[in-house]
Amino acid sequence: MLINIVDIPSLFYDSYQQHLTIDAGKTWRQSALELYWAHVSPISQIQFMDRFNRSQRVSRGFERERYSFETDLERSLADLVEKACASEKNVHGYGIWENHIAPMVGIANELALVHRADAEVVRIATLLHDLAGIEDYTKAKEHHIHGAERARQLLGEAGYPARKIDLVVQSILHHRASIIMPKETAEEQCLADADALAHIGDVPSLFYVAYENKGLGFEDGQCWVRRKLTRDWQKMSELAKVRYSDQYNEVMNSFTC
Ligand SMILES: [Fe+2]
Ligand SMILES: [Fe+2]
Repeated sequence: MLINIVDIPSLFYDSYQQHLTIDAGKTWRQSALELYWAHVSPISQIQFMDRFNRSQRVSRGFERERYSFETDLERSLADLVEKACASEKNVHGYGIWENHIAPMVGIANELALVHRADAEVVRIATLLHDLAGIEDYTKAKEHHIHGAERARQLLGEAGYPARKIDLVVQSILHHRASIIMPKETAEEQCLADADALAHIGDVPSLFYVAYENKGLGFEDGQCWVRRKLTRDWQKMSELAKVRYSDQYNEVMNSFTC
């Protein structure tokens, strides 16, 4: 039974082989883990409690505290983005709000302190950073460029200060981990770090892409997830790495490839 508890990639594979949604997959894995754990002797439970807790955390994704917006502008932007995520036109599904953007705002807000960045600018950039590809999938490939234009339009209409609009626009333009671009401001670094950290905390969505969307086999799927996380981590700032290394190591120690 213990092998089932520590073998996290198999848990992901077994859940997505049944074509469960991301949320249903989380529930299935929690029940499976509890069932296995009930069959472990009390002595071994004491010895392996940490491993069991780690398997629970990684297989459901790290829980992040949600940021509650304090200004009308942020609230209305959050509303606009959430509605776009819920729209039928959004091919990524509502999960991109629930599992990526909403938790990322909290991470970005925390990182703004670490990087001494303008926290409001960073939160707004986070809300808008993937919007172009959500509203129109034909823009997904270059969503950093279209997203920067969309942010300039939305924030201009809202009368946001020009200097801050420039910071938001630059951050969105430079947020992609797959496109290496120098980070010139603390706000840009925050957004790129928060995007990478949101992936590291949301392993269930990555395994879903590997096994359900891409249809990869057991080994290829987990290696794909591992490589993606490694790339995300390598592009993060040293400051963010120091703060989040425990979470990263916990996730990376879960792989068997
Ligand atoms: Fe993006
Ligand atoms: Fe993103």
